[in-house]
Amino acid sequence: MIRTKSAILLFVLLTGCGTENPFSRGPDTVDDSTTNPVPGENISFSADVIPALDDCVSCHRSGAGGWTYNAGDEAYSAVLNTVNRNAPTESELLIKATGGGNHGGGRIFSSASSEYEIILRWIEQGALNN
Ligand code: HEC
Repeated sequence: MIRTKSAILLFVLLTGCGTENPFSRGPDTVDDSTTNPVPGENISFSADVIPALDDCVSCHRSGAGGWTYNAGDEAYSAVLNTVNRNAPTESELLIKATGGGNHGGGRIFSSASSEYEIILRWIEQGALNN
C-alpha cells in the first residue's frame, strides 16, 4: 500500500511540476486559437464587396471590355457573372482585378489585399446577394 502511494506521488511530481508538462500546454494552445479573431465571417455583398470594388467603377460604369459595373441596382448580377463558385480563386473577377488575364485595367489590388480576401471569402460563402 505504501509502495502504491509512493508511486502515485512520484507520478504526480513528475507530471505536475516539469516545465515541459504536456497536460498544461494542451489547454494553452486551445485558449490561443479561440481568442484569435476569425477573419471574414459573414461577408456582405452590399456592405463589404461593393466597397471593395470601388476602383472598378471608373472604367466599367461605361462597360469597358463588355463588363458593365456601376455599383448600382445591377451590381449583383454583373458581379455574379464573373464569379466561379466551384473554383473561387479562378473567378474572372479576381483574376482581372489582380491584373491577370491581360486585364485592360491592369492590377487594381493584389492577392494579399483585404479587398481580395473579402471578395474571395464572399465567393466561398456562396456569393450571396446579402
Ligand atoms: C483603367 C480602367 C479599368 C479599371 C479601373 C478596371 N478595369 Fe476591368 N477591364 C478594363 C478593360 C479595358 C477591359 C477589357 C480588356 C480585358 O478583358 O481585360 C476590362 C475587362 C475586365 C473584365 C472582363 C470582362 C469580360 O466580359 O471579358 C473583368 C471581369 C474586369 N475587367 C473586372 C474588373 C474589376 C473587378 C475591376 C476592379 C477591381 C476592374 N476591372 C477595374 C479596364 C478597367
